[in-house]
Amino acid sequence: MAEDKFIVTPWEVKGDVDYDKLTERFGTSKIDAELIERMVQHTGELHPMLKRGIFYSHRDMKWILDAHEKGPGFVLYTGRGPSGHTHLGHLMPWVFTKWLQDKFGVELYFQLTDDEKYMFGQDLELEDTKRFAYENILDIIALGFDKDKTHIFLDTEYAKTMYNIAIKVAKRVNFSTTKAVFGFENSTNIGSIWFTSMQAATAFLPSELKGKNIPCLIPCAIDQDPHFRVTRDIADKIGYFKPALIHCKMLPSLAGSDKMSASVSSSAIYTTDTPKQIKKKIGSAFTGGCVSVEEQREKGGDPDVCAVYQYLYYFFDWDDGSLNDRKAKCRSGELLCGHCKQYLTQKVTDFIVDHQEKREKAKELVEEYMLRD
Ligand code: TYM
Repeated sequence: MAEDKFIVTPWEVKGDVDYDKLTERFGTSKIDAELIERMVQHTGELHPMLKRGIFYSHRDMKWILDAHEKGPGFVLYTGRGPSGHTHLGHLMPWVFTKWLQDKFGVELYFQLTDDEKYMFGQDLELEDTKRFAYENILDIIALGFDKDKTHIFLDTEYAKTMYNIAIKVAKRVNFSTTKAVFGFENSTNIGSIWFTSMQAATAFLPSELKGKNIPCLIPCAIDQDPHFRVTRDIADKIGYFKPALIHCKMLPSLAGSDKMSASVSSSAIYTTDTPKQIKKKIGSAFTGGCVSVEEQREKGGDPDVCAVYQYLYYFFDWDDGSLNDRKAKCRSGELLCGHCKQYLTQKVTDFIVDHQEKREKAKELVEEYMLRD
């Protein structure tokens, strides 16, 4: 690990991420009070993920608001690498993206990189990543994105259109750049080296389809930023605007720090989990509690390191009063870990049960959202 003792790449998040240092390392800007104020002027409300600093960093967000105010408007773009089922971490940027779509009334392009997960995944065949892509699409639709303004596609299936844009990107990105940005080596397969041109291409897809240059805003967690640094570097060379970004922090794993990994199933909650699985996973989550009840009553717990508290903070308790009260009671030893686990289990189960009903209904709607060439 680098001197800061954490790693954040599109494929790996390790250690206790220092988000201030990461913005410096990546060269992004923090979202400040002035920007929040300007966003609220358009949205009419302050999203809790902005208020809590979960969405905390950006590139060119002010330019996007200018484009919205004076024209030519903007489009949204986000994505998913279908290596498995969707977990709660993935839903975070998507919930925020939906809010942006609703508030600004804009179109959204949603890319599923089945090619990426095939090329990077040791144990995944193309049939697997395609199958997971269609599973993930059910989660996307279940969140309620506007059918008339949302365009979903798989890289391998929308290849004819994508290839023509991706080659323009690929011609301008050399191997030493991808080595420096992604840590690739001579032994890396050439599909992986090429891949960033596919993720970059979608930022220009709306402009290609509409035949005019249109600003693009990409909401995602900060781990995906390296792809878009490369994208921004070459954008004007091929006559497009640089895409803007708005980044969130990573929902930690139930086992403590690090991001939830789709490959370590006990540390993440999936949208396909049963209430029994949810209970079991939250039951064995890492907390900031003491070894015995007596000690905890005496010394109190530490919510700052507690995965259960983090889940409430990031996703499941938007009521600041209740959350602060919980934090104080944990610190004083009044509230024990069992209570918080029970509370979170109920919240997550209610959410997932409701989501699964919507996911079922989504099965009928897939084609209405798909972009085909
Ligand atoms: P993927 O599938 O790793 O992640 C999908 C989205 O979820 C975010 N994310 C998280 N957010 C919060 N907490 C977590 N623990 C967490 N884990 C993942 C990711 O940042 C992402 O926004 N290569 C991409 C697919 C992609 C894409 C894009 C993503 C293609 N085009 C444009 C974002 C924007 C991938 O594998 O994402």
